[in-house]
Amino acid sequence: MSIKVSALFPLPSKDTVDTLESYGKILGKAVPMRTKHLEELHYSIRDLSRMLTGDRADLTKDYMGDPRSLSAYLRYFLPWNLYRLTRLFSGLDIKLPDNGIVVDLGAGPLTVAQALWIARPELRKKKLTFINVDRTPKPMKEGQKIFSEMAGDCPWKLVNVKGGASSKLREKADLLVSANMVNETIMNMRTPMSTWAEKFCLQLGRMLAKNGRLLLVEPGVRHCGRAISVLRNEFLQNGWSPLAPCPHSCECPMPGEHGTPWCHFNFDTRHAPKWLQELSARCRLEKDNVSLSFLYMSQPHEKLPVKNEEGITVRAVSESFRIDAGGFGQYGCSEKGLILLQAKGDARTLFPGGLITMPAPEGENRDSKSGALIIDLPTRGASPSGGRKTPASGKDTKNVQRKDTPHEHKKKTSPKHQGKHKSSGDNSDDEGWTTSRREAMKGGRRDSRGRGGKKKG
Ligand SMILES: C[S@@+](CC[C@H](N)C(=O)[O-])C[C@H]1O[C@@H](n2cnc3c(N)ncnc32)[C@H](O)[C@@H]1O
Repeated sequence: MSIKVSALFPLPSKDTVDTLESYGKILGKAVPMRTKHLEELHYSIRDLSRMLTGDRADLTKDYMGDPRSLSAYLRYFLPWNLYRLTRLFSGLDIKLPDNGIVVDLGAGPLTVAQALWIARPELRKKKLTFINVDRTPKPMKEGQKIFSEMAGDCPWKLVNVKGGASSKLREKADLLVSANMVNETIMNMRTPMSTWAEKFCLQLGRMLAKNGRLLLVEPGVRHCGRAISVLRNEFLQNGWSPLAPCPHSCECPMPGEHGTPWCHFNFDTRHAPKWLQELSARCRLEKDNVSLSFLYMSQPHEKLPVKNEEGITVRAVSESFRIDAGGFGQYGCSEKGLILLQAKGDARTLFPGGLITMPAPEGENRDSKSGALIIDLPTRGASPSGGRKTPASGKDTKNVQRKDTPHEHKKKTSPKHQGKHKSSGDNSDDEGWTTSRREAMKGGRRDSRGRGGKKKG
C-alpha cells in the first residue's frame, strides 16, 4: 500500500505572515492608545497574563470590559491567538456556503472572524454572517473596528450579541466556533465536569444547522485538554464524529486525567510577527513555541466519506524525543490507542499534527513505559506517495515530515547549536526539539541551559 502523510498546521502563507506583521499598525489605527498607556502596556499585559494563566482568583467575569485588561488583550493575547488560529484554520477542512453563518461563542474581539479572514482568503468574497456572542459587549465592538481596518470593504456581516451558550439565536450555524472560552467557563466550576459537559453539548447542538460543524479551541494546557476529551466523549455518545484531530471515534488515549497525557499540539513561533515577539520580550513573556488543544466535530446527520484505507492511520501528537533503543520516538493517536512512532535509521518523525497512513504493524509490540503500541515509521526508501497535500486545502505543504536524520538531529541539538540555530524558512530544522519523553508529552522545552526554556503560550 502507498504511504500518505499530511500536515495539520501548514506553514503560514506569505500573505498571512505579512498581514500579521502589519497587524501592529492596524491595531494602532483602529484602537489607538495614549502614549502614557502605551508606555505602561507591558505592565498591564503581565498582570492580565498572570490572571489568565495562573492567579484566576483576580479574574472578574467582566475583565474584558475593564479598559486596562482590554487594551492588554487587544495588543498581546489577540495577536498571539491570531497566530495560533491562523495556523489551525489553514489546515482544517473548513467549507462555508455562500450566505453561510458562523457563530463565534465567547467571541471577545472577534478573533475567529479575523483569523478566518487572514487564513482563508478564498472565503473573503463570500457573503458570510458572523454572529459573535459574548457576555461582555465591549471587546466585540473593538474587534469590529479592528476587522474594518484590516478587511476594508468586505461582504462579511458582523453581528454582535450579548449572551452565552444558552442564548437562543435565530440563525443556525454552519460553523460554530468557541475559542479560548471553555477554560473560563469551567474555572472555579462546582458542577461535576460530566454534568456540565452534557448540558454544554446540548446547548452547542441547538446552535447548529443540520450539517453545521463545531470547532472548539483551547490553550494546550492539561485542564483544557481534559475538558476537550470529556466533551468529545459526550458528543460521541450522542452519535457525533470527530473530524480532527482524532483519526478515529474510539476511546481517547490522551484524556489528561490522573496524570495521563493530554492531547495538544505545539508549533514554533518562528513565523510570528517580529513586533509581537519584541513586545513579548518587553513583557518578559518570550515564547519559542505555542500550543493548543482542539476538537472539530460533525453531527450525526452529516454524511462523511467512507474511509476505505488499508493500514493504520496515526496522528502525530507529541514532539520527538530520543528513545533508549536508538533513534527517535514520538507519541501519536490511532484507533488502536496510544502509539509510539519510532524513527530509526533514515526514517523521520513528523511535525506535531502530521497524519500518516501506512501499513499496519505485524504483531503487537508494546512500549514498556507507556503501554503504547510501537510502530516503525517508514524509511526514506518507502517514500510517501500522494502525501504532502493537506486533505483540507489541497495545498502543498512541507510541514509534515522532518527532513533531518537522527544523526543530524543529534548534531543540531548539541548544546553548541541550541539557541543559535537560524530559521531555514521552511520549518525543516529541528530547533527546540524536546529531549525527553516526559517533556514531549507535556510539550515543555529546554533552553540552552537546560532549564525549561521560554514560556510556552
Ligand atoms: C480569553 S477570551 C477569548 C476571546 C476570543 N475567542 C479569542 O480567542 O481571543 C474569552 C472570552 O469569552 C467570554 N466568555 C467567558 N465565559 C463566557 C460565557 N459563559 N458566556 C459568554 N462569553 C463568555 C469572555 O467575556 C471573553 O471575551
